[in-house]
Amino acid sequence: MNSLSQFSYDPAKCSLALSLYKSLLKIEAQIPAEISELDFFKSLEQPPEKTLGDYALPCFRFAKAIKKNPNDVAALLKQHLEELNNPWVESIVLKGAFLNIFTNQKEVAKNLVPTLVNGSAFKLLKSNPEHNKTKVMIEFSQPNTHKEFHVGHGRNVCLGDSICRLFTYNGYQVIGANYIGDEGAHIAKCLWGVDHYKGDEKLELATNKAEWLGQRYVEANSKLKEASDEITKNQYNKEISDILKSIENKSGQYYETWKKTRQYCLDDFNKIYKWLDVKFDHFFYESEVSEDSQLIVEEYIKKGLFVEDNGAIGFDMSDKKLGFFMARKSDGTTLYITKDLALAKVKFQDFDIDRSIYVVGSEQNFHFKQLFYALEKMGFPQASKCYHLSYGMVVRPDGKMSSRAGNSFTFIQLINLVMEEINTYLEKYSTEWSQDQKEDTAHKLAVGAIKYGMLQADPNKEIVFDPKEWVSFEGNSGPYLMYSYARTQSILRKAEVEGIKSSLDKIELLSHESERDLMRHLYDFNQITINACENYRPSTLANHLFFTCKAYNRFYTEVSVMKAETEDLRSARLSLLKAFADTLKMGLYLLGITPPEKM
Ligand code: ARG
Repeated sequence: MNSLSQFSYDPAKCSLALSLYKSLLKIEAQIPAEISELDFFKSLEQPPEKTLGDYALPCFRFAKAIKKNPNDVAALLKQHLEELNNPWVESIVLKGAFLNIFTNQKEVAKNLVPTLVNGSAFKLLKSNPEHNKTKVMIEFSQPNTHKEFHVGHGRNVCLGDSICRLFTYNGYQVIGANYIGDEGAHIAKCLWGVDHYKGDEKLELATNKAEWLGQRYVEANSKLKEASDEITKNQYNKEISDILKSIENKSGQYYETWKKTRQYCLDDFNKIYKWLDVKFDHFFYESEVSEDSQLIVEEYIKKGLFVEDNGAIGFDMSDKKLGFFMARKSDGTTLYITKDLALAKVKFQDFDIDRSIYVVGSEQNFHFKQLFYALEKMGFPQASKCYHLSYGMVVRPDGKMSSRAGNSFTFIQLINLVMEEINTYLEKYSTEWSQDQKEDTAHKLAVGAIKYGMLQADPNKEIVFDPKEWVSFEGNSGPYLMYSYARTQSILRKAEVEGIKSSLDKIELLSHESERDLMRHLYDFNQITINACENYRPSTLANHLFFTCKAYNRFYTEVSVMKAETEDLRSARLSLLKAFADTLKMGLYLLGITPPEKM
């Protein structure tokens, strides 16, 4: 089988690689075995400047392989490549040991536009045989019950969901998983706070119960802090510890309250997921793995990896500068990280996964370093296939928030701010549109504005949330992209009413510079989704889509689609417009965004 077949999404580069290999054979019949077509494919770069061509080939490696001067080899390769009359080659410019290759625009148009319009281009990566047999679990969202769902959780959901979509698009078997923190000291504190709460507002009446419970947790924390004397403090702590025991032993009054309040929180989380159109294939719960985590500690004490240290159980990780890995505290309770050992084991063994991705905020970087090293030492081969997709905070222009201090900024608050902006914008349609239409459009725009705002930034960077910017219809925002899409649909509808057909017959007529630029962006789409997937960076795709929209808007202003000089040209341009629309829609889908058809 031709080793290039997996790269069929880039036919120009495949063809160039084959021709270049043939050309090298003409220079030197005895090429060392390690040089193949694939090497040429991999060496062909995309120059940063358009003026440097569509592909550039540095010739050093090939010159070295046949023991010749790089500049000479470049010149000879150019000569032989030209003789081969490869249809993709428009012209070749020699720059020292580099070849700058310009592709033939007619060939690009003929090969690209039809595959976008008929959708086959969007299925090419799905059939990658290596990926098809790789099972990837993507764990994301993972909120704690009895706490509010804050903006950071929102960023997490958007990221994780897009990563799931990108991996699926790239042919992997994907399991999207959630891991709910429904156990632990914070819940005991919260329930203790509920008991001591003497306000008028009651849980049953609260519209957002997770938020209400989160506030009780905050109050509990301040009450604990305010406790002036040791006796009161000890008494409070004893009460909280009893609550914790009741929950963990699954009996007693607090266990009942836990079950009820936990469910309230899960219901609230599900409402958010539904609003965002995010689905999970599986839910894990901390309360489900805590028993197993005790068993694991026993198992690895027996195996000799975990040892006692000042009453605690664990092992020394100072060889990796990770300190002491604590699996069990001296009071016999396990920790958050111990549950992660049990969870990982279930993922590896029951779900049989090959790759495991954890989408979790950067404050847990150390946690995941320890976790993955522990899994390695425990002998799980999949440990090397674990990846922590770490991301920064979301802050308001006025500063940071932490849920303990009680000045947190909830995701619902962010949704409301965005909704407000969108509704102001949509007011102008108040007479034209039905109520349903308005609500549906507002919802799609709000989801798109939020997801795009969250995804457009590199995960490592902090996001400063500005509702006006996120909702703006100009600039690098979700609404700008969605608006670009909606505009194409209105043109296509108009064309249909007027009986104007798009056609692929004369697609090679697309020869304007703005058409060339737009096609280049569309051509790169699949490669960009590969990069976004393998680097865990939906931001790569988001920004590519933004530049593609700019290229489209330039095309739309510089040439006339509906009033093109000839009918053939109009049909061809309409096809390019449709190719752009379909690519944008697919790209938005991979970000989790559904644009309205009309705006
Ligand atoms: N629930 C945890 C928190 O809010 C995040 C869980 C992350 N996932 C994991 N496997 N540790 O901090």
